[in-house]
This record gives sequence, C-alpha cells and structure tokens, in this order.
Amino acid sequence: MPTKPAAPIDVTTTAAWKALADHYKDLTDKGISLKDWFEADPDRVAKLSFDLSDLHFDLSKNLITDETVELLLQLAREMGIEERRDAMYAGEHINTTEDRAVFHTGLRRPASEKGQFIVDGADAVADVHEVLDRMYDFADRVRSGEWKGVTGKKIETIVSIGIGGSDLGPVMIYEALKANLNGPAARFVSNIDPNDIAEKVKGLDPETTLIIVVSKTFTTLETITNAKMARWWLLDALRKAGAIDDSAEKEAEAIAKHFVAVSTNLELVADFGIDPKNAFGFWSWVGGRYSTDSAVGLALIISYGKETFQQLLAGFHDMDIYFQETPLEKNVVALMGLINIWYNNFFEFETHAVLPYNQYLHRFPAYLQQLTMESNGKSVRWDGSPVTCSTGEIFWGEPGTNGQHAFYQLIHQGTKPVPSDFIAFANSANPIQCEGQDVHELFLGNFLAQTKALAFGKTADEVRAEGTPEWIVPARCFEGNRPTTSIFGIELTPHALGELIALYEHITFVEGTVWGINSFDQWGVELGKQLAKQITPAFHDDDALAGQDASTKALIEFYRANRK
Ligand code: F6P
Repeated sequence: MPTKPAAPIDVTTTAAWKALADHYKDLTDKGISLKDWFEADPDRVAKLSFDLSDLHFDLSKNLITDETVELLLQLAREMGIEERRDAMYAGEHINTTEDRAVFHTGLRRPASEKGQFIVDGADAVADVHEVLDRMYDFADRVRSGEWKGVTGKKIETIVSIGIGGSDLGPVMIYEALKANLNGPAARFVSNIDPNDIAEKVKGLDPETTLIIVVSKTFTTLETITNAKMARWWLLDALRKAGAIDDSAEKEAEAIAKHFVAVSTNLELVADFGIDPKNAFGFWSWVGGRYSTDSAVGLALIISYGKETFQQLLAGFHDMDIYFQETPLEKNVVALMGLINIWYNNFFEFETHAVLPYNQYLHRFPAYLQQLTMESNGKSVRWDGSPVTCSTGEIFWGEPGTNGQHAFYQLIHQGTKPVPSDFIAFANSANPIQCEGQDVHELFLGNFLAQTKALAFGKTADEVRAEGTPEWIVPARCFEGNRPTTSIFGIELTPHALGELIALYEHITFVEGTVWGINSFDQWGVELGKQLAKQITPAFHDDDALAGQDASTKALIEFYRANRK
C-alpha cells in the first residue's frame, strides 16, 4: 500500500502567488497593451525568444512583462520545481497514489548511460536498450521480409490495436512522419465501437497483415475486445481462403506469425495466445500517456525503421537535458508551463489551443489532450488533500488553416480569451510552387498573420478609415492582447517531433508541480469503466435493468424498443 506523502506546499500561500495576484491587479488596472509594451521595449522580442536545436520560440506576444516573468520564476522556486524534476529524473516514486517511479526520461537515455540509473532495483537504461534492440531486430526482420506470415508471404500492413496512451502517441507520430514512410503502412484501431475495426481491416489481406496488441495492463476492455475481434477476423479469413485448416496447431501457428504484443503484463499476453517470445515489455514506471517512445511505438519502427526511431528518441532526450540543465530564467519549457499557470490561475482563462500549421501534425492536439488533461485534471493534491486553486487547462486544437475557418472567430473576438500555441516549420515536406507562388509561404503568411492580429488587433479608427458605417465599426474591431506563443521549427523531422513531445510532457509536469498534484495517476477514468461493466448486461437482462437509475433505465428502454 502506498504510504501517505507529506502535503505539498499550498501554492496560494506562497509569497510569489500573492505578489502575482497584486501584479495581475496592477496590470489590469493600468490596462494591458501588447502594442504599447512592444513600443516601449525594443528588446522585448529578443528577451522572450529562445532557440534550442530544431526549434525557435517566440513568447513575446504573451501577456507578460519582465516583472511577471520574475514572479513566475520565484513561484517555480518556491514550489520546488527543480527539486521535483530532479527526483523524477532520478526515478524516485513521485507517482504517490500508485507508489511508482516516473521515469519516462529513461526511455530515451543513450546506451552509454547503462548502469547509471537503478530504478526499482534494476538497471533501467540497460533494460530499455535490451527491449529496443529486440524491437529493432524484429522490425528489421519484418521490413526485410525475413519474418513471414503463416503462408510464407511478406508483411505489408501493420494493424496496431491500443487505446489512450497505447494509441494516441503512435498514431500522432505515424501521421506526423508520413512524408517519409518507407516500410509497411500501419493502421490503428482504438475504439471499442466495432465500426472502427471493421473499417480498419477492410481491404486487408490477412496473409500479409501483422497485428500488434498494445496495452500496458493487457486488461483494457477496448483493446482486448478489439484484439479478440482481430484474432477472429484473421483466423476466419485464413480458413476461408484455404490458407489454414481447422487444427489447433495451425491456428496457433497463424497467431504466432501474425500477432505480437506490447505490454507490462506478459502473463496475460501468454493467456491471450501470443507467444511471449513475440512480446515487447515496458515497466510500471512508464505512464501510459508517457509511453509512446517505449515498445508502444513498435509500429513506428516497423513502418519507419530504426534510424527514424533513434532520431525521435534523440529529440526527446535533447529536450529532457535542456529542461534539466537550463537555468530556470532561460528555460523556455519552464516558462511555458509557468505562463500557463499565469493564464489559468490569474486571468482565469480556462482553455488552451494548440494550433499546428502543419497538416502532418493533425493528431497532435488529440494526443496532447490525453497528455495534459489526464495528467492534470485533478481536484486533489498528491497527499489526497483538496487542491487550493483551479487546475487542469482544457487543451484543444486543429491544424491551421482549417481552424481559421471554424473557431478562430471566437479566439479573435469572443468573450473567452484562449491562449494559443502556434506551431509551424520553415520547410515543408512538399515544397510546391503554384502559378509562381510558393504555397508554403502562403501558408506561413497565415501562421504569422494570426498571431499578429491576435496580439495587436485593429482599432475603431483603423476600421473607420476603411469607410465602414459607424454602427458596423464595433463588429469589425479587434481588441488585440490575445496571447499566443509561436513555435517555429526548421523542419518536422523525427528529432524535432521528439523535442516537441517532450516539451509538452515537461510543461505538463511544471503545471502539475505548481498545483501540487500527481500528474501521473488517472483514477478519474476508473468509475466509468466499472459502471460500463455493470450496465452492459442490462441491455438484455431485466434484473440488471431494475438496478439502474431512472435515466439509464429510460435510455436502455429506448434501446430495447429500437434495436433492429
Ligand atoms: O484511459 C485510462 C488508461 O489507463 C490510460 O491512462 C491508458 O493510456 C489507457 O487507459 C490504455 O491502457 P492500457 O495501455 O493498459 O491498455
């Protein structure tokens, strides 16, 4: 049983918190004007710009002054961000409610660091590299055709089955790197809605398909159900094609050739019928939403190859080291997390948009939703006491420019300001000139225009000068001072992507630490899982129906009346 840890410092009692509250009042009383702040301080952009390998950050269009930054840094120090970061990097059990180490940074440490990190009594880096080497070897065999399906054919397609952290990261990365796909294509199945698997296996030849079942626990209802459906689909199709007979030996051989697993629970993997030789493990110190660079990313290695995965890991690691070694005042990761606190807790902005100006990053906001909200959507702190302030920003987003034609209206002129991270890259994977126009420049023009409009707005006088009738002027004004951060990368390489993911992992950590919450458990998803098990029989069992609340009962009665 985990022992109760010491209570975190109540952030609202710190000197920095009180000073920030006064500072907030002072700024808002005087009136916030990014336009004035830019004019008054010619060094503002330089002071608030940061470069780290592939990425350039411009924080200047945030609602912060020199004093804000100083006070936020003071807050970070008072809350012991650096100490807790070091405890995390050392593999200490900072996941208090589950009594687990939080050591995802160990997943990307180089092999040269074997022996340096003993986590839960084992050499974590050596263990990581043992699994990585097996994955690289397996992926090579699949890619080269040495690994064959039960009828001797080369694998052409991967179906990766998982959900949450066992899906969102791999899908997002698979999509992000697609311009360089050089191996078997992958499809991802996550939803227990049978429509998902039905669509994903459509058109696939089971003889050339490899199914990866990814589940940390190997108990997740969605994944195990999808895996069973996939097993049925595969065996049935192979039998119908005459590729295998009905014998148990042939079925076992087909499963051995077409199913592999990624899990921390190798016993349940074996119970499912997958040979533990074909299983790739990870460890309890890797949280599901922090696991995409573990064996959970196996499909990525098969589709993109070892070198790509190694570059991705190097990007993660470079960001880890940057976050660990850069003094707080120059540390853009810490600053971004602290600025989020500033908006969430002082301005009381509730949501945060992430807007990638790169179509390949179209699943990045969805991935971030689990990372940030499953981590920090908590009402109690790590000792079980209630939180003392609002926690857990609501993250959302869509790729630009699609979002511009959907919800940007609200970001520009609505009553609920939305701090937004804009992400773009100087180089496109598809450089195209169309009628003499560099289309990427057209795209980047939009990226820059949006943050400019949001920061500096458009005054009534500017609108009037365009000859607008007076009564329409207010509708066409932009008040500005809508905060944005620009992240401008050189190119969406695997390395840059690794950096970007680790950036948001650590931003999430900074916010959680300031709030005093354990960002590494997820008890909030348990009740729904339990209830689903209890409710499902009620669709056909009257006793189970009788035990339901009135609303659930009525909905099930609707189902019973209408199910064809
Ligand atoms: O949704 C809850 C959760 O436990 C996530 O944290 C996790 O990523 C997901 O379910 C999948 O879990 P598993 O990998 O054990 O199947």
